[in-house]
Amino acid sequence: MKPIRKAVFPVAGLGTRFLPATKAMPKEMLPIVDKPLIQYAVEEAVAAGVTELIFVTGRNKRAIEDHFDSAPELEKELENKNKLDMLEQVRHVIPSHVNCIYTRQSRALGLGHAVLCAAPIVGNEPFLVLLADDLIDATTPVSRQLVEAAHQYNGSIVATQNVDRSETNKYGIVAGEVLDANTIRVSRIVEKPAPENAPSTQAVVGRYVLEPEIFDHLRRTQAGVGGEIQLTDGIASLMESRAVYAYQYEGTRYDCGSKAGFFHATLEFGRKYHGL
Ligand code: UTP
Repeated sequence: MKPIRKAVFPVAGLGTRFLPATKAMPKEMLPIVDKPLIQYAVEEAVAAGVTELIFVTGRNKRAIEDHFDSAPELEKELENKNKLDMLEQVRHVIPSHVNCIYTRQSRALGLGHAVLCAAPIVGNEPFLVLLADDLIDATTPVSRQLVEAAHQYNGSIVATQNVDRSETNKYGIVAGEVLDANTIRVSRIVEKPAPENAPSTQAVVGRYVLEPEIFDHLRRTQAGVGGEIQLTDGIASLMESRAVYAYQYEGTRYDCGSKAGFFHATLEFGRKYHGL
């Protein structure tokens, strides 16, 4: 498999569960303590060797573009006030060898459609997808775990975790042949199955390494669960011609797309990283 240099960040969802906070800004700009969710995801991708960050934005894109841009007036002010720690943080939101590229999903037609919007920028190489509202605290960043596994098995790979059977209707669920302690070769993937129909309790979370062939499959994918073009359905179609793997990552995930998960993450990160 070619090296993975590009990461796609779909940030065009409506974030209705966080209204009114998300009325004028994407939910990925909500901070856990002092850092927006999207910055945690960007740092994770960079730690996995990514150098091109592709943001698929919606109506409220400005806040994200501004966040990753330089801020000369703010920098001058911090310099004048000798707030050098803050200045460092503001200047190095992303390392200088990393580029940001923005594209737009004009209507929130679903995650699969958002990923497809990045096709002309990704081109013909494997890429990472990160959903910033899944915040994962891990010793080895999860994207790095996933990239290593993708190279080992030479194929597309989704990150999974075991969930309670009562929760299968919130996730894509995979089942297949066990290859090693963390990895399966996927033979079935179903979006949000009812607990009684779920083929397992291995749930897909917001990290994927995908081969570029996924785009042809997404182009043919019709709206599925919730009337949205689902990435899960695109992956199910990809599996007909190529091997797809699932990797049970090591780390703790916080579903920051939900209020409970967001609150929990704030408490844990506050305690663990900020001495609060
Ligand atoms: P969610 O399923 O969490 O949906 O999207 P949402 O619309 O953002 O949030 P709620 O449910 O209304 O509160 C998962 C990820 O996919 C992106 C979102 O930005 C989020 O990162 N997404 C979803 C898109 O970029 N475009 C879409 O059309 C849908």
